[in-house]
Amino acid sequence: MQIAYTVEEVRKQVKEWKKEGLTVGLVPTMGYLHEGHASLMKKAVEQCDRVVTSVFLNPIQFAPNEDLESYPRDFEADCKLCDSIGVNLVFHPEPSEMYAPDFCTSVNMDILTTTLCGKSRPTHFGGVCTVVNKLFNIVAPDRAFFGQKDAQQLAVIRRMVRDLNMDIEIVGCPIIREEDGLAKSSRNTYLNSEERQAALILSKAIFMGQQMVADGETSAKAVRDAMVAKIESEPLAKIDYVEVVDGITMQPVETVASPTLVAIAVYVGKTRLIDNFIVD
Ligand code: PAJ
Repeated sequence: MQIAYTVEEVRKQVKEWKKEGLTVGLVPTMGYLHEGHASLMKKAVEQCDRVVTSVFLNPIQFAPNEDLESYPRDFEADCKLCDSIGVNLVFHPEPSEMYAPDFCTSVNMDILTTTLCGKSRPTHFGGVCTVVNKLFNIVAPDRAFFGQKDAQQLAVIRRMVRDLNMDIEIVGCPIIREEDGLAKSSRNTYLNSEERQAALILSKAIFMGQQMVADGETSAKAVRDAMVAKIESEPLAKIDYVEVVDGITMQPVETVASPTLVAIAVYVGKTRLIDNFIVD
């Protein structure tokens, strides 16, 4: 497995692959990889001749008060995992390789980014769209793989690709969970043992909402109210949002239909965790 630190190295390798007629998959990540990331990389290895994983903790998608500095890192372990799955190239640039000191161009999106995580993190999706656009330009993949765990991010990327006519197939991958239900996340490492137990309230609320819909509940308010009550029963949990939105536009809906996204963000102690389910 090759490790590249510069844009030039990546471009050179990808050009060679393309000359041979090979398809290229990209899995963008911020590192500290776990089985959620692994599931994306495995799918990419299945679907593409060559796979690039980017490990880049993108500073511009973090607000000044957020956890950029404390975000966990373990590049050696990340490389081992990528290698064991069959990833061909890990792209691990320094921030200075990605952002020149006078960098002043960005990709921003309206509507889809005004709700859910975009409401509490107003600069976040601009940072995500910009870096993903850059990674797409650097790697020029045929397919790129994103997790349903970050459902709004997946919807935003799909929309960016459509709106800006990017010739890239976006592949969505299901949420990977711990055995007890907690969605896998690099940020789970922030939780102490008491908080780790309390964090189960997210998946419990998600599974309960999912069951209500499976049992025929179509009122968004009824689903939302029940999930809010469930989360509020956990003293260590503080709700950021519990929302029922259209799966494409990310705007609130009154009736649960296909495709509806039910998404939550909850603070457990100081750690902000997200989870969701899609009705389809
Ligand atoms: P990161 O949080 O590292 O996640 C990288 C990819 O892994 C995302 O597509 C995310 O949805 C997926 N993922 C994370 N946990 C998952 C889980 N439990 N199950 C399934 N997929 C999971 O998302 C980002 O990085 C960044 O915003 C990025 C797109 C790389 C841009 O900087």
